Amino acid sequence: MHQSPADAKLEAIRWDRPRLSILDQLLLPHASEYVDIATSADGHRAIVSMQTRGAPAIAIVAALSLAAEISRRDFGSAQQAHDFIVDRLDYLATSRPTAVNLFDAVAKLKAVAASALASQSPAATGASVALAYVDAAEQMLAADVRDNRAIGSHGARYIAARALAQGAGAFKLLTHCNTGALATAGHGTALGIIRSLHQGAHMPAAAAASAAGEAVLDHVYFGETRPYNQGARLTAYELLCEGIPSTLVCDSAVSALLRSDPSIVGVVVGADRVAANGDTANKIGTYQLAIAARFHGREFIVAAPSTSVDLGLASGEGIVIEERDPAEITRAEGFVREALEDGRMVRQTLCVAPEGTRAWNPSFDVTPAELISAIVTEKGVFVKTPGATTYDLAKCLGEN
Ligand code: MRU
Repeated sequence: MHQSPADAKLEAIRWDRPRLSILDQLLLPHASEYVDIATSADGHRAIVSMQTRGAPAIAIVAALSLAAEISRRDFGSAQQAHDFIVDRLDYLATSRPTAVNLFDAVAKLKAVAASALASQSPAATGASVALAYVDAAEQMLAADVRDNRAIGSHGARYIAARALAQGAGAFKLLTHCNTGALATAGHGTALGIIRSLHQGAHMPAAAAASAAGEAVLDHVYFGETRPYNQGARLTAYELLCEGIPSTLVCDSAVSALLRSDPSIVGVVVGADRVAANGDTANKIGTYQLAIAARFHGREFIVAAPSTSVDLGLASGEGIVIEERDPAEITRAEGFVREALEDGRMVRQTLCVAPEGTRAWNPSFDVTPAELISAIVTEKGVFVKTPGATTYDLAKCLGEN
């Protein structure tokens, strides 16, 4: 697959059987350092601490951390390998509660281990069960990149068509959090659509050269995404690496932005869990963006692989929302340029709110399906049937 210099800088997950390393996203954008992940305990720690984050990346790092661990272990029997895998997958599933991709991967990988254990010819061994697991985890990495590229081209065509329908030749988009290469195995979901639009993936080759008569992505706005600043730190970094013209705004500026700039045709965001009716959990602040988009008559598009869809949940009401340490709000984490030590920037914590301030820090919110104009998956773009307020994603995904 073609890799640009930007792709190489933005590789969140490096897997070279049996070695796994992840780009430490707590240090970005000020330092680009890879951390070795040798065990499921390392994987769990990296996910909890947010060294790696983003729904698809969480699932893949969890899966591959165990692949790295079992590749280096000998098992006395097939049963022993199976039981070890199940135990460690249950442990990895306790790392973060909201993104369903993790639970989807855990269920699929348990099924792989069970089926490898049941193999009669050839008879299962510890090594064969471990190998089946590692193959399956590796395939998840490759499938995520493929799915994201498909999301990118479906979404790019849909958005460009909506922009043209609104008479906008050159148009802008607004996004939230980080949903790019850093949050996935590569390319990204919502940011993947932006990347595909920038690359002209929605245009026939001749038109891409001239852009004549086509809608062209002109500019991207993105919110800082307090308190973790996935927008200000990570999306900013990805957009700069890709040379996509962009502007950072405070999360609280988005309504004013939509009012002031009519060339923003829509908002495009990712998802951590999409219920069967289309209700979508995503980074805190997404819900208010959807309300603002509806008020200002703009598209509100969710982009996610089908591994983010939880058909077991009828609506968003059952989605568990992670609450993180209030200190993430009362303090600000950052790097201080003046405090250079041996040429390295130093990470510092600044107190923002007075000691004793109480804070509520939900990491995600749920946007009702009613506010979502379209859901883009690798299988295509889904819109509600006229007059409906919800989606039937089981039908859309061909699962019933
Ligand atoms: O807390 P994070 O950084 O893991 O949250 C990330 C998001 O909310 C993303 O929008 C979502 O996981 C989709 S990433 C393709």
